Amino acid sequence: MCGIVGYVGCNQAAPILLAGLKRLEYRGYDSAGIALMNGESVRVLKKPGKIHVLEDAMEASSEMATCGIAHTRWATHGAPNEPNAHPHTSMDGDIAIVHNGIIENADIIRKQLVSEGYTFRSETDTEVVVHLIDYLWEDGAPLEKAVQAALRNVDGAYGIAVVSSRDPEKIVVARYGSPILIGVGNNGEMLAGSDAAAVIEVTRDVVYLDDGDCAVLTAEGYRTYHLEGHEVKRGVHKVTWALDSIEKSGYPHFMLKEIYEQPSSVADVMRGRILPGSGDARLGGILEHESELAQVERIVITACGTSWHAGLVGEYMLEELAEIPVSVEYASEFRYRNPVLEEGTLTLAISQSGETADTLAALTEAGQRGSTTMGVVNAVGSTISRQTDFGIYLHAGPEIGVASTKAFTSQLVALSLFTMFMGRRRSMSASRGHEIAQHLQMLPAQIQEVLKLEEEIRELARGYKDAQNFLYLGRGYQFPVALEGALKLKEVSYIHAEGYPAAEMKHGPIALIDEDMPVVVLAPRDPIYSKVVSNVEEVKARSGKIIAVVSDDAPELQGKVDHMIKVPHTLPHLLPVLTTIPLQLLAYHIAVMRGADVDQPRNLAKSVTVE
Ligand code: AGP
Repeated sequence: MCGIVGYVGCNQAAPILLAGLKRLEYRGYDSAGIALMNGESVRVLKKPGKIHVLEDAMEASSEMATCGIAHTRWATHGAPNEPNAHPHTSMDGDIAIVHNGIIENADIIRKQLVSEGYTFRSETDTEVVVHLIDYLWEDGAPLEKAVQAALRNVDGAYGIAVVSSRDPEKIVVARYGSPILIGVGNNGEMLAGSDAAAVIEVTRDVVYLDDGDCAVLTAEGYRTYHLEGHEVKRGVHKVTWALDSIEKSGYPHFMLKEIYEQPSSVADVMRGRILPGSGDARLGGILEHESELAQVERIVITACGTSWHAGLVGEYMLEELAEIPVSVEYASEFRYRNPVLEEGTLTLAISQSGETADTLAALTEAGQRGSTTMGVVNAVGSTISRQTDFGIYLHAGPEIGVASTKAFTSQLVALSLFTMFMGRRRSMSASRGHEIAQHLQMLPAQIQEVLKLEEEIRELARGYKDAQNFLYLGRGYQFPVALEGALKLKEVSYIHAEGYPAAEMKHGPIALIDEDMPVVVLAPRDPIYSKVVSNVEEVKARSGKIIAVVSDDAPELQGKVDHMIKVPHTLPHLLPVLTTIPLQLLAYHIAVMRGADVDQPRNLAKSVTVE
């Protein structure tokens, strides 16, 4: 949620930290701050608002500061004002900390520290950690010892970076439940970041820390430790994605760029994974678990938001084509009830970021109950990808727009490959597998066709931009698409929208329909099409304005709907890949026309690393 960056080396730290913060701004953007160390003192500047506000406030400094930490915040404890912005400092200003996560026993520690004479300047949970480091710092000990001692007393989740003028030219980082990585520079410089985007301009060599790890960074190098103090070894990984994948490359917004990346992101998730001859999928990440997967009798899919919608499509695919019973769980609910995971249950977590706290917690719960765990994840090296027993990467490249677009379509394709894999090991015939393979391979070109509809959809957006509410209806494979279309509109345009199973509408929401209610109906020609036509009649009879997404000329709908958006046709279980894209474009253009901040919608953050 929040973004962290740290630098220690031989160059001016401030420009490197600011550049890293800008790359992380998508993670949280209600305030930003920086702590620079010049050996004798720690200088802190923080500002509410976006990073450019902090940047504008930083006077051109001749002071050489070659070590520092910085932070962009998404508020959890306390309003997004200056006192609550990070870094937080000790009372004497010698120690500064930036933190991502939540300290659950903050109130208890705060009371104890107040009784010891500490005064607090913010409402944040983070401030207790910096005072605790100060309180537990033994004379002559290095900074890392004090940090380790403090962290042994806190409960909750954290990714932190700490600097102190008492032990200068050093950054101490630590993680538990919130990601931190080290960027290993070539020329006597080391970085820290909450994700690789923070360090990529300087280095592609990164070290992912595990929960319970802490590390000491100096210009000479780094050492990794367990919080208990003993040294641990963590390998260096290469970040392979290109720098321009985290730049707008001429597009006005990341969301639009990522919508337009879908022909290639969908091609990338399939690359080398389809065996058209045998109608099978070759999925490197799960191949060696083939015999284990053959024993699977039930799958529980767990995820949040858009990834949860992809999970619903996955449920329908796996049940229809691989004949495996599937249930789909909101990760945030799964954990707090008593899920029955009998032997033979596979728990499958879907996540773009691989860092979503709720999904991670659900996965941990499933693992503790003895379930085999699998991930469908985009971010390589992320916590979920490392915590699962095996999995499938999306290879969609970084997704920066807060509203997920390309990750969703890649998730759908990854799930259809997994369905093919599971189906072919059960009842699916080679010819059925072959047919699916052929249709999968056509998808990138078909997405190109859908993208040509942008102008038409922009015009449509003009007519509906002032609507107060929207209803999205779909059945079968198109029901999750209705949910996803509504979520996209809500997130970026702040228009209230509901996704509903088309036939369920008559059990309540039909009361909402009048001439002011735009209704988006997903009506491609699939086995349930004729039933959807009846649902369209029900809306029309109540004067609703209907936008239908169809996959042929849909003569049955002519004269009954107000607008038709026609996408190419494919197999029913692959149609969601094509029908979703017009809804992404519709949400995008409505949001732009309403003047909303498309890439950084209010109150949202890209990866939700708090429960
Ligand atoms: C999607 O547009 C949302 N911003 C959000 O619902 C997101 O899908 C959800 O938080 C899950 O994230 P994840 O895929 O990174 O786990």
